[in-house]
Amino acid sequence: MSIQLHQGDALTILPTLPADAFDLVLTDPPYSSGGLHIGTRRQAPTTKYAFHGGDRAHDFAGENMDQRSWRTWCASWLAECYRVLKPGHVIAVFIDWRQLPTLTDAMQIAGFTWQGVAVWDKTTGGCRPRKNGMKQQAEFIVWGSKGGLRQDADVYLPGVFQARRSKDDWHATSKPLPMLESMLAMAGPGGSVLDPFAGGAAVLKAASALGLQAVGCEKVPSIYQRAAHDLAA
Ligand SMILES: C[S@@+](CC[C@H](N)C(=O)[O-])C[C@H]1O[C@@H](n2cnc3c(N)ncnc32)[C@H](O)[C@@H]1O
Repeated sequence: MSIQLHQGDALTILPTLPADAFDLVLTDPPYSSGGLHIGTRRQAPTTKYAFHGGDRAHDFAGENMDQRSWRTWCASWLAECYRVLKPGHVIAVFIDWRQLPTLTDAMQIAGFTWQGVAVWDKTTGGCRPRKNGMKQQAEFIVWGSKGGLRQDADVYLPGVFQARRSKDDWHATSKPLPMLESMLAMAGPGGSVLDPFAGGAAVLKAASALGLQAVGCEKVPSIYQRAAHDLAA
């Protein structure tokens, strides 16, 4: 399997993968969020999300859904993730505060046993100030398992991951590699990980650094090409 990045829609690619094949699903889907109203939600991702990366050329897909559509869409790809994950293994999905409750619904609709919510603390410098209020300093990682959690491994992870985004990352919503590397312990040594929404391929890069196997999908050709180039390098 090694490291494979596919270009295309996850809903088309996931059904081609074998059942009960992956040790871990770790992914960061489009949140279709970034605003309380449909007008702000429909803005380009690099406009609505705080972004201080290298360029804004890579507006990504899947950001135009209202909440009901987003939940149905999530339940569809999560059901495919359920099929391809090994029994007892973990799925972990990044999300923001607005879509957190909806994602926990979708994960259970797809069949997963919801196990909890971990926190990505972006640190005080990693987010916009909020006048007269509190910073949105955290994103969340909703996690669950296919059936009961397996008992044949000894991995103990924290519930809060403190990590700042790298200013060098070119994808608008990249996730820090050290945090992903910590989470990938749940795949086990030499294990296989699936990321249906690869973006800049941070999960695949982290998996490669750890000697894991990984499969990713990215729908936007320009993002796929840049991520594939990074992986080849
Ligand atoms: C939130 S970003 C992932 C960022 C990634 N974690 C990183 O660190 O670079 C989600 C990515 O999924 C892609 N995407 C959206 N809908 C998709 C679909 N149906 N199939 C595959 N990729 C999709 C978007 O273009 C975007 O690049």
